[in-house]
Amino acid sequence: MGEHLIYAYGCGSCHLIPGVAEANGSVGPPLQGFGSRIYIAGLLVNTPENLLHWISKPQEVDPGTAMPDLGVTEPQARDIAAYLYTLQ
Ligand code: HEC
Repeated sequence: MGEHLIYAYGCGSCHLIPGVAEANGSVGPPLQGFGSRIYIAGLLVNTPENLLHWISKPQEVDPGTAMPDLGVTEPQARDIAAYLYTLQ
């Protein structure tokens, strides 16, 4: 589920994301092993709540970050987060 949304939103044009087709971008950090990472974007403690916020509104979390707001809705962000947490 989450991996389809990740594909549809083009997250892979900027991130390397295992298990997602064509997700081999190198603009942002690789998301392999994301489930065991301590911080999100070096700013937020890696909790599900914070990850939802980051995925749906990165510009609100960190104005000017190179990651754009892509219009991911909260339920979609939930599915995407669930997928990212499977990456150990
Ligand atoms: C235009 C490029 C771009 C796109 C598209 C993009 N990101 Fe990012 N992303 C970034 C950059 C750059 C960072 C690092 C931001 C920072 O550290 O300030 C980042 C950071 C992240 C992080 C934190 C990674 C870490 O190791 O802390 C996650 C999670 C993430 N992005 C998920 C996503 C998801 C999910 C999508 C699709 C909905 C997405 N990104 C789309 C560029 C992008």
